[in-house]
Amino acid sequence: MIIETERLILRDFVTNDFEDIHVYASNPIVVKYMLWGPNSKEDTQSYMNMIADMQKQQPRLGYELAVVMKENNQLIGGCGIHIIKPSQGELGYCFNHNYWGSGFASEAAAALLEFGFRELNLHRIFATCRPDNIGSAKVLQKIGMKYEGHIREHMRHNEKWHDSYQYSILENEYV
Ligand SMILES: CC(C)(COP(=O)(O)OP(=O)(O)OC[C@H]1O[C@@H](n2cnc3c(N)ncnc32)[C@H](O)[C@@H]1OP(=O)(O)O)[C@@H](O)C(=O)NCCC(=O)NCCS
Repeated sequence: MIIETERLILRDFVTNDFEDIHVYASNPIVVKYMLWGPNSKEDTQSYMNMIADMQKQQPRLGYELAVVMKENNQLIGGCGIHIIKPSQGELGYCFNHNYWGSGFASEAAAALLEFGFRELNLHRIFATCRPDNIGSAKVLQKIGMKYEGHIREHMRHNEKWHDSYQYSILENEYV
């Protein structure tokens, strides 16, 4: 499973990616808005086990992919698209802090939209982000998603309830 963009390769994770994943998954700044982390090594191993199972699914419903820079083969983050209902996919991404602010998340997320509509034949792709995760909201807007609404206190993490903003794009809006 390989997707190529101008500067990036999106590919299936492999066992050797452990250290590169753990660098960002254990960073409190990176996971501030996630429902997991900061990861222990055991947490990262569980994540890798979950990904390995996903890669074997028949039919495959989840694509959790490594984001690698073409120029130096550096793994800079992860992104994913998951078929959660027939014809509907959920998008997500998480990047190593050293590589924020260079358009990589937008480039990877746009490639996942193309994959979702053209290869998986999805009808609707959505994503959620925390209301104060401005960077993530901007990525979703940049790739053409529309704001759908504010979901109130639907997620429980670290003994607190959390809100989300939800964004989506439909196949007939994707050009
Ligand atoms: C959110 C995240 C993926 C953004 O990655 P990135 O590679 O920096 O994003 P991009 O460079 O493609 O930025 C897209 C836009 O958002 C803006 N942006 C990014 N981070 C921002 C921030 N913290 N505050 C304001 N704007 C921000 C960029 O300037 C850019 O806008 P522009 O094109 O008008 O200049 C990255 O910060 C990250 O991995 N965060 C931790 C994990 C996470 O929160 N994932 C999302 C869960 S919903």
